[in-house]
Amino acid sequence: MEIEVNGAARQVDAPADMPLLWVLRDILGLTGTKYGCGIGQCGACTVHVDGMAVRSCLRPVGQLGGARVTTIEGLGSPAEPHPVQAAWIEAQVAQCGYCQSGQIMQAAALLDLRPAPSKAEIDAAMTGNLCRCGTYPRIRAAVRDAASRLREAEG
Ligand code: FES
Ligand code: FES
Repeated sequence: MEIEVNGAARQVDAPADMPLLWVLRDILGLTGTKYGCGIGQCGACTVHVDGMAVRSCLRPVGQLGGARVTTIEGLGSPAEPHPVQAAWIEAQVAQCGYCQSGQIMQAAALLDLRPAPSKAEIDAAMTGNLCRCGTYPRIRAAVRDAASRLREAEG
């Protein structure tokens, strides 16, 4: 089947019920998206499907239709980081790093919908993304910084 990932059409030979997570990691080699629980409980596997944050461990690849998939590899680049990635670097959020691509994808989807989220909205959006290293205070600070950067970028 053909799926669109990070702006490119990709041909993948996979059963329709294979979770998108494994297509991304094992077939397309996009290992920035992480496997944590496999049951939608940790957020490590979060990607964007048509701009919405989705747990890729729960989404069968055959149900994507023509949806656009974006992974952490497609959000920004080292030369041109997405404002969320820039805020993350500035705040040195990551500790072990394992949960962080999911955290960043969740935050980017939130700010796309809500450019100026309240503290409660940030908490509500990020609550399903777990971090065993306990980087939550830096994550919350980086989301607020990213929101400012996005508003500045938009003038
Ligand atoms: S691996 Fe998908 S939510 Fe945990
Ligand atoms: S940085 Fe280690 S699990 Fe979040």
